[in-house]
This record gives sequence, structure tokens and C-alpha cells, in this order.
Amino acid sequence: MIDPAICPPQFVEQTAEVVRRAWPQRPRTGVILGSGLGRVIDGVHIECELPYEKLPRFPRALAAGHRGVLVCGQVEHQPILIMDGRFHRYEGYRTSELTLPIAVLKSLGVEQLIVTNACGGLNPNFRSGEIMAIAEHINLLTLGPRPLPPSAQPHPPRWCGARACYDHELLASTLAIARQAGFVCHRGVYIGVAGPNYETRAEYRFLRKIGGDVVGMSTVPEVLAARYLEMRVLGLSMITNIACPDRPAKTTHEEVKRLAALAIPNVAKIIRGVVAASSA
Ligand code: HPA
Repeated sequence: MIDPAICPPQFVEQTAEVVRRAWPQRPRTGVILGSGLGRVIDGVHIECELPYEKLPRFPRALAAGHRGVLVCGQVEHQPILIMDGRFHRYEGYRTSELTLPIAVLKSLGVEQLIVTNACGGLNPNFRSGEIMAIAEHINLLTLGPRPLPPSAQPHPPRWCGARACYDHELLASTLAIARQAGFVCHRGVYIGVAGPNYETRAEYRFLRKIGGDVVGMSTVPEVLAARYLEMRVLGLSMITNIACPDRPAKTTHEEVKRLAALAIPNVAKIIRGVVAASSA
């Protein structure tokens, strides 16, 4: 049974049952696609597509560049579930709404979750179009609403250790896949902020100083929920705009989607490699 701290179990089961009826498989891998990454599904053998409107209790993907479809299919002859469209705190969703899909994936059998996002690069060695595998995050989203409503707190309170959020083996195999295929994949620290605005120059400077390599507006709530549910997590950040506070350039959502798309073939290679390794 899913922990009620994440979201009410009856909501989770109601949604999971609709997916099970449409696609009776037990996927071990789940993927969440970030802004501009929808074409990753081009390499997937699609068996069934479920628009989020057809999934009871599922939020709607409101941000541009997020299709809002749960894609059920095969990669490397293994069943996989792909969320083509994600939800953000800045769309007004509460944490229990942001994390319901994660609990649904868990209920359907998902043991490892690949969470992707588009982000701004803070590290001066990073370039647009490159990928960073997340080693750790800094959660500045908690400056927003409380992560769990008091009624959903477990009794006695349970704390989810955030120390080892990102699975070491998945991270190491991602770096090995990139090395072998000959593309750049950094490792580093993701800072999650609430958005929806891009940062001021002073904020970019601050975020770099406190230890960030990249900054984005998603990922952290999903990763914490997945860890709470004892899934293994791989976080992949597509570096879009480079945040150079002293050489400012305007960041737009169109540009972020365009640059995130550059990384699609390499993200697809990582997903294939990770799925193949986990089924070996
Ligand atoms: N900041 C926050 N989120 C982002 C950025 C950024 O510069 N680029 C893409 N997502």
C-alpha cells in the first residue's frame, strides 16, 4: 500500500487501476520528461497512450511544451511508463498533487525512476545542449507551501533521508554510457526553485555561490516522493540557457524548449542503456 503521507491511497489506486485495465503490464522503469523533451518517445515502441484527462485524480499538464500523456510501451523489450508532461509548483499544485503520479507509478510496479528536466547552467564549464546527471540537490522549493498538509503527516512522523537521493549505480552507469557514446555528461548539484520567473543576475550569482551547478523549477518534489516510496532515482538535467550574471542574456521558455531538444538523442541513449543494464 502507498504511504498516505504522499497522497491518499484510494486516489492512487483509482488512477493505477485505469492504467492497469488499459495496459496490463508491470513496468520496472518510469520516466518523467521535462520541458522540450517530448520527442524522447520517438524511440519507444508505444503500446498505449493515456491522456492525463482520462486518468482520474491526475493533474493536468498546464505548462507549454508538456503534452500531458502517459505513454505505455517498450524500450529494449522491457515495459516502461513515460510521463510526457509534468506538473510544477508554479502551476499552483500542492505537493500531494505533484507527487500523486509518482505513487501511481510505484503502484504499477516502477522500481527505478528517471526524472529529466530543462535547467539553467550556473557552472561556467557547462554549455547549452549538454546534460548533467544529478548527484545531489538543494531544495529551495520548501520556501513555498509546506511539503505535506498536516492531515497527511504520518503518525509517528517519518523522515525521509535526502542524503542519498540519487542512486550511485544509475549515476555511474549514465556517465559510462555517455563516455562510450562520446557525448558530454557532467555530474553536479541541481537547485530546485519555485519559479515561474527565471532568475535575476543577483540570484544566479547567489545560487552559484551556495553550491549549485544548475537551477530549475521542478524535479525535487518528485524525487523526494520517489525516495520516500523507496524507488531508485536517476536525475538528468538538460542545460539550456547559461546563466552568466556578468554577461546577461534574456531567457525565454521558447529558447529553453529549443535548447533542451538538442539533448534528446543523448537522453534516449541513456534511457535505453539504463533499461538494458537493469534487465541484464
Ligand atoms: N532558471 C530556472 N529554471 C530554468 C532555467 C533557469 O535559468 N532554465 C530552464 N529552466
